[in-house]
Amino acid sequence: MKKYILAVAGGGSTYTPGIIRSLMDRLEDLPLSEIRFYDIDGARQAKVVVAAKAVIAEYTDSIVVTDTTDPQTAFEDADFVFAQMRVGKYALRELDEKIPLSHNVVGQETCGPGGLAYGLRTIAPMIELIDYVEQYAKETAWIVNYSNPASIVAEGVRKLRPKARVLNICDMPVATMRNIAAILGVERDELVVNYFGLNHFGWFTRIEVDGIDRLANVREHVYQHGLLTEDVSKIDYRHADSSWIKTFKNIKLIMDHFPEYLPNPYLQYYLFPDHIVETSNKDYTRANEVMDGREKTLFETVEKFEETGILEDSFAVGVHGTFIVDVTVSIAQNLGKRYVVMTENNGTIPNLPADAMIEVPAFITADGPKPEFVGDIPYFYKAMIEQQLASEKILVEAIIEGSYEKALQAFTLNKTLPSAKVAKAVLDDLIAANKDFWPTLKKEYKEGSLV
Ligand code: NAD
Ligand code: G6P
Ligand code: MN
Repeated sequence: MKKYILAVAGGGSTYTPGIIRSLMDRLEDLPLSEIRFYDIDGARQAKVVVAAKAVIAEYTDSIVVTDTTDPQTAFEDADFVFAQMRVGKYALRELDEKIPLSHNVVGQETCGPGGLAYGLRTIAPMIELIDYVEQYAKETAWIVNYSNPASIVAEGVRKLRPKARVLNICDMPVATMRNIAAILGVERDELVVNYFGLNHFGWFTRIEVDGIDRLANVREHVYQHGLLTEDVSKIDYRHADSSWIKTFKNIKLIMDHFPEYLPNPYLQYYLFPDHIVETSNKDYTRANEVMDGREKTLFETVEKFEETGILEDSFAVGVHGTFIVDVTVSIAQNLGKRYVVMTENNGTIPNLPADAMIEVPAFITADGPKPEFVGDIPYFYKAMIEQQLASEKILVEAIIEGSYEKALQAFTLNKTLPSAKVAKAVLDDLIAANKDFWPTLKKEYKEGSLV
């Protein structure tokens, strides 16, 4: 059987050891001859690779493992590239969250101004990665991308490298399905869902088990408990942090107002931004929770392993690891399996623009995702999606053109921002914080002032 060369861009990610365990569990479906870790921070990556190698050693000694900061070494002849880069790392994530909050605006990794700021940092490195892969990897190579903000990344790639073989994915639909399955007492792969939207901005419209729609049962449960089982231990460890528990509980808040469909948890930021700000700690955000939790634990585990040879964290596989391997197996074996992923609309939802990067169920083949027809969507959802889509599309134009005016339009259109005045104040603070990362944003017009 053919063996593949896999490269991981952002090898220093906290998710790397878990993804490696998922890959090891599926070696029969995706046999690997080499795994190459690539990162611009070689020192960080070297530590994470200690853990990754320890996981690999539990399964096999026949895979060649390389860690490098050199793109040619990483991507030469590669078949698959998993991308999980966090441009600006947690230091900038913390600012993406705290700067908006200092203006009483949602401070979040991928939603609202924080997400737009992260997008302004990520498009250029993502295009650079695509160009490396084009230059060095096999012609048939696929990049399977988790790098956020995935919606903006998907739009940037669509515009700047339309022919690139990039599949943009998100683990939130599968994470939501994991909770739904636990609530219904079934396995996740027994669920067949219908879903539409943009990344981190969508709705489940049907939740089928054995051909029967169970959305009404899920709704009844959500009215009492949110999207959580009474026993929270059924959720993998990352989503068991207190901020994630709050997020899944908030599904109740959303469905109490809009019971028709089951929302993606991220819609809390757009529908209830005031409530989110009121219940946020401006001095200790999710970035702090992750640095003090997942990141710290990982580095401590590596240190202890180097001292004792014992790997204390098993990096148990969560939906994040299994999902990226599932879609990759479907590409490699041309299985055409149905998963919720990002793809260009092209009539899948006829009453949304054809060039929107939407998130819907698609059949994943060796030629990429083939979306299943959805049909027209009701006005409320269409209007919300179009506003968000415009914000993201204009942001990508701002990046390409280096336009301050377009950046301000993108911020102003984002539903988390209450006014153009606040949008401008947040944008200006983020420009200062991101001076080493963002393209220069030029002002074409003389600035006026408010009376
Ligand atoms: P992390 O900071 O632990 O790891 C990211 C790594 O990317 C770092 O080692 C960093 O040095 C590296 N990096 C930054 N710029 C790079 C570049 N230009 N080239 C190569 N490497 C680069 O972050 P994390 O929390 O583990 O998350 C990793 C990524 O995965 C983030 O983008 C995060 O938003 C994303 N993510 C996405 C999903 C999804 O649903 N799409 C789910 C989870 C995480
Ligand atoms: C979810 C989302 C990702 C996001 C992640 C953040 O899984 O789908 O897009 O990056 O959460 O998780 P964290 O634990 O880093 O806050
Ligand atoms: Mn996501």
